[in-house]
Amino acid sequence: MSNHDIPEENLPERSTAHGEVSVPDENPFADPGLPPHEHRIQDIDEGAARRSERTVALLFTISMLCTVGFIASYFAIPRDKSIFVFPIGHINAMNFALGLTLGVALFCIGAGAVHWARTLMSDVEIADERHAIEADPETKQKVLADFAQGAKESALGRRGLIRTTMFGALALLPLSGVFLLGGLGPKPEEKLRHTLWAKGKLLVNMNTDQPLRPADIPVGSLTFAKPDGLEESDEDFQQQIAKAALMIIRIQPENIKDKRELDWSHDGIVAYSKICTHVGCPISLYEQQTHHVLCPCHQSTFDLSDGGRVLFGPAGHALPQLHIGVNQDGFLEARGDFAEPVGPAFWERGAEK
Ligand code: FES
Repeated sequence: MSNHDIPEENLPERSTAHGEVSVPDENPFADPGLPPHEHRIQDIDEGAARRSERTVALLFTISMLCTVGFIASYFAIPRDKSIFVFPIGHINAMNFALGLTLGVALFCIGAGAVHWARTLMSDVEIADERHAIEADPETKQKVLADFAQGAKESALGRRGLIRTTMFGALALLPLSGVFLLGGLGPKPEEKLRHTLWAKGKLLVNMNTDQPLRPADIPVGSLTFAKPDGLEESDEDFQQQIAKAALMIIRIQPENIKDKRELDWSHDGIVAYSKICTHVGCPISLYEQQTHHVLCPCHQSTFDLSDGGRVLFGPAGHALPQLHIGVNQDGFLEARGDFAEPVGPAFWERGAEK
């Protein structure tokens, strides 16, 4: 499109043949102004306003009930109870109840505030000029006056039901955090010391669910395993696999540096806990040339050819090794449980000293 096609009034300022700047008489982008204000039903019908008020109060009341439910769940539900929730499967009942009640409590406070603002607070449109960042005293006065006006228009003083329930919901909600602090104890004591691994327990491939033979573990591969008999459909699957998850690699026996590691392996096949000894992330990155494994959470690096020793990162101690062998049917089996607690388990190690 050429300038000849554009209406004259829409052309920007331009130079004339004499070098003068000509400015269009009218601003081509004039402020169209605010559309006419439309009243909401709540502005003209006190009955509708009362219904909105009750809705907001109901949401705040549900929030209060959920906070009470959160606290009750914390005390009433056994910590190791699990429930089946579709489509997730078996999950810890207390975690589910705490998450659900806290989530609904927060949602209801938010939804109540939004509904209140949309239906009962003043919705008169205001246009103001942009001003300098540094406010002058008059502007500060105006801001304070606007704030007072806003508080007045929010009807907080007039809508007693909303005020009471909102303060109730906001006052109760922080209690949830106080009770969560109780989750820091008690110490797990012996619960983390033992895993499902035991003498004669077969090593089962996590992906195929099949018992593993030495021939299934080629040099340079990383295989994840679980104890035979542990199924994903089990109620306590997550709890048990969090302790028993195993990674298996095969190293040329002459490349194994640690003598005990050699004794606890089978033909270069070594099995280590998959749970990082820093704060318990599952380790998953294997470098086959160096036999190093890396924890993706904070980059702790362990040498699986040297007793799972920590090479780098915040992990405080080596990965526990599982003593393995081969049974008379040719399957890989455990020769006992881990000799030391898996994962961080700092409380148990401290008690041994
Ligand atoms: S959990 Fe593995 S490095 Fe932190």
